[in-house]
Amino acid sequence: MRLFGKTLTATAALVMTTSLALAEDVEVLHWWTSGGEAAALNVLKEDLASKGIGWVDMPVAGGGGEAAMTALRARVTAGDPPTAVQMLGFDILDWAGEGALGDLTEVATAEGWDAVVPTALQAFSKADGKWIAAPVNVHSTNWVWINKAALDATGLGEPTTWEELVAVLDKMKENGITPLGHGGQAWQDATVFDGIVLGMGTDFYKAAFVDLDPAALGGEQMAEAFNRLIKLRTYVDDNFSGRDWNLASAMVINGEAGMQMMGDWAKGEFLKAGKVPGTDFVCIRFPGTQGAVTFNSDQFAMFNVEGDAAKAAQGAMASAIMNPTFQSAFNVVKGSVPARTDVPNDAFDDCGKKGMADLAEANTSGKLFGSMAHGHAAPAAVKNATYDVITAAFNGEYADGAAAAAALAEAVAAAQ
Ligand code: GAL
Repeated sequence: MRLFGKTLTATAALVMTTSLALAEDVEVLHWWTSGGEAAALNVLKEDLASKGIGWVDMPVAGGGGEAAMTALRARVTAGDPPTAVQMLGFDILDWAGEGALGDLTEVATAEGWDAVVPTALQAFSKADGKWIAAPVNVHSTNWVWINKAALDATGLGEPTTWEELVAVLDKMKENGITPLGHGGQAWQDATVFDGIVLGMGTDFYKAAFVDLDPAALGGEQMAEAFNRLIKLRTYVDDNFSGRDWNLASAMVINGEAGMQMMGDWAKGEFLKAGKVPGTDFVCIRFPGTQGAVTFNSDQFAMFNVEGDAAKAAQGAMASAIMNPTFQSAFNVVKGSVPARTDVPNDAFDDCGKKGMADLAEANTSGKLFGSMAHGHAAPAAVKNATYDVITAAFNGEYADGAAAAAALAEAVAAAQ
C-alpha cells in the first residue's frame, strides 16, 4: 500500500486500513430486500459513503420486519448488537426500555429535530425525553394501488366507498383478471385490515387498535369488518398463500391483478418498474379512509456499542438520515414521505405529493393514527395476537365475522 509516495509496510498498511475501517463502519440490520427497497437503501448507502461512513450490510428478508426483529434479538442476546437497526414504533420503545439503545439527543438538539419531526413520530423516536432513533420516513398503509388499464376496463371510476370497491372488484373478476393481488402472510392480511377498519370510522379504528377497547374489538362493527375481510378473500388467486408482497405488486404492475391493498412501499416497486402514476397506475386511499392516515415510520435505532469511533459513526449516520436533502432523495425512491415537515415536495410525483398533503391534513385534523399492522398502534405481543386472528379469519377458520370479532377481543385481552 502506498501513501504520500511511500510504500508502507504490510503491518502499517493493515493498521491504517483497519483503523480507518473501524473509525467509520456501521453494521446495519434491515429488511429492505425488494427491488424498490434496495433502490432506496442504495440512496442511504451512497450518502453515508460520501461522508466516509462504510456500510456493513445485515439484510434479513421478510416484509414487515418480523424475521429481522427475531435476528436482532439473537444478536443482542449474544452480546453483539449491530450498530444501527431499522425498526418500527413500539419495537423501538421496547428496546429503549431494555436500556439497549444509544442516546442521540446531542445531535438531535444541535440540529433542531424537535421542531421538524411530527409529534406522532416523536412518540416513537424518544424515550424518557432522549432521542433514541432517527426517523427516515413516514409510510402509510391505507392505500390501494390500481392498474389503470384494468380500472378503465371496468368502466367504473376510482372507488371511494366499500360498495364501490366491491363493484370494481366484481367487474375485474368478470373481465377475467385476478381482482386483488395479495400475499398470504400475516402482516399483509393485517395491512389490508388496517384499511378495512379505518374505512369504517376513525373513532372505531382508535377504540379498537389504539385504545384496545374490548367493546370495539368484539362488537358488531368489528364483526362487519371481518365479514368484509372474508369477502376480499374471494378476490385473490389460488396461489396467494405465502406470496411476498412485492410479487403481489408485480401482478398489478403487469396487469395480471387489478389492485393491491398495501402500504406505499408498493409504489417503490411501481417506480422501479418504470411505471408512472396516473398513466400506468392510480394511488387511492383505501375507500372510506379519505382524510385519515394510518402511518408507520422506519426509524434507525442506534444500539449501545463500544468505542468512540463507533459512537461517532452512529451520530454521523443519524445526522445524515435527518438531512433534508437526503430525506427528499430517499423518500422519492422509497414511496414514503419525509419524516421532517420542512422538506419541499418538488421532487415527488403526484402520489408522493398526495401522501405528504394527506399526512399534513390528518395530523391537523386529529385523524393520524399509528398502523396496527406495522407496530405503531400497540406493543408487539398485542400486534402478533391480532395478526393471528386476522389471518385465521382470512383463511376461513371462523364461522363468520362475529366469531372472529369475539376471538379478537379474547386474544387481545390475553396478550396485554
Ligand atoms: C414495513 C416497512 C417498509 C417496508 C415494508 C415491507 O414495515 O416500514 O419500509 O419494508 O414493511 O417490507
